[in-house]
Amino acid sequence: MDVESLVRAMPKVELHVHIEGTLEPEAAFAYAGRNGVTLPYGSPSEMRRAYEFTDLQSFLDVYYAASSVLLTRRDFYDLTWDYVERAAAENVRHVEVFFDPQTHLARGVALSSVVRGIACALSEAHGRWGISSALIMCFLRHLPEEDAMKTLRQADGYLHLIDGVGLDSSEIGNPPAKFQRVFAEAREKGLRVVAHAGEEGPASNVADSLDLLGAERIDHGPRSMDDPALVERLARDRVCLTVCPLSNVRLRVFDRIEDHPLKAMLDAGLAVTVNSDDPAYFGGYITENFLASVRGLGLTAEDVRTLALNAIEGCWLDEAGKAKLRAELDEVFASS
Ligand code: ADE
Ligand code: ZN
Repeated sequence: MDVESLVRAMPKVELHVHIEGTLEPEAAFAYAGRNGVTLPYGSPSEMRRAYEFTDLQSFLDVYYAASSVLLTRRDFYDLTWDYVERAAAENVRHVEVFFDPQTHLARGVALSSVVRGIACALSEAHGRWGISSALIMCFLRHLPEEDAMKTLRQADGYLHLIDGVGLDSSEIGNPPAKFQRVFAEAREKGLRVVAHAGEEGPASNVADSLDLLGAERIDHGPRSMDDPALVERLARDRVCLTVCPLSNVRLRVFDRIEDHPLKAMLDAGLAVTVNSDDPAYFGGYITENFLASVRGLGLTAEDVRTLALNAIEGCWLDEAGKAKLRAELDEVFASS
């Protein structure tokens, strides 16, 4: 099998996907129609054509505006179901999904509609395709820590459905130190911790996410490569980095896929993985992220296998679940 066929066939673990980032323009128009919300575009194709981003903030402005069509539990269920259908078709076996409660609470949407809608679709995906999942509640770092704290406490009734907390939105000007107390409280509640860092912001945000927030994985993290001592630490401690190549190009972190440091990160011994971030906005889901990386960076079959193994190692399945995925992966690569 050639490398691209291996990418398509192999079992995959997705560790960085924002459920709001899977909102395709057609679905946005459908939800807008049934909810009586007006979008600032005439059609789904016009909406898609507007996706020309200059940086993270220019994307976030569009992304938060589009999320205004999500109002009911059914919207969150349908959104998540559409995503898992695609994931199943791409041989995703395990997914850890982010959601942004504050975006929705601010519009008067009940947290129960958001969490129960998403969790119900994820549970049905397990029954239908055997896709396992975890749910990660992200705090918006452009808002004050008190807002995040209020949200964390509001989630008390849903902690049986939530596995961890994350930190996303505008990285520059909103360092990890701003959120130390809320992450300490989340850890006390038994929640696991991840954080976006080193996407647009400096390498120091990566170290601070580990040291000040207790993050066990770093979402994105390519700017870690600016600091050799940090690279050494991340490699030594096998810190999983959930890299999103198409996102980084579309948000102009790197001009072209050929300039992306994914291959250099692998060669430096980092526990990097390939993920899709906001696939409805960035031109593809997990398979497309792998294929773009293979084509742009000349990844070998061995590189692809390492990336897939890193995701299995870094995910929150128990050891038996991980062993099952490793065996499936071995089978695909052995038959190549
Ligand atoms: N929220 C959704 N996508 C994001 C990204 N790439 N960075 C930070 N926050 C986000
Ligand atoms: Zn992200």
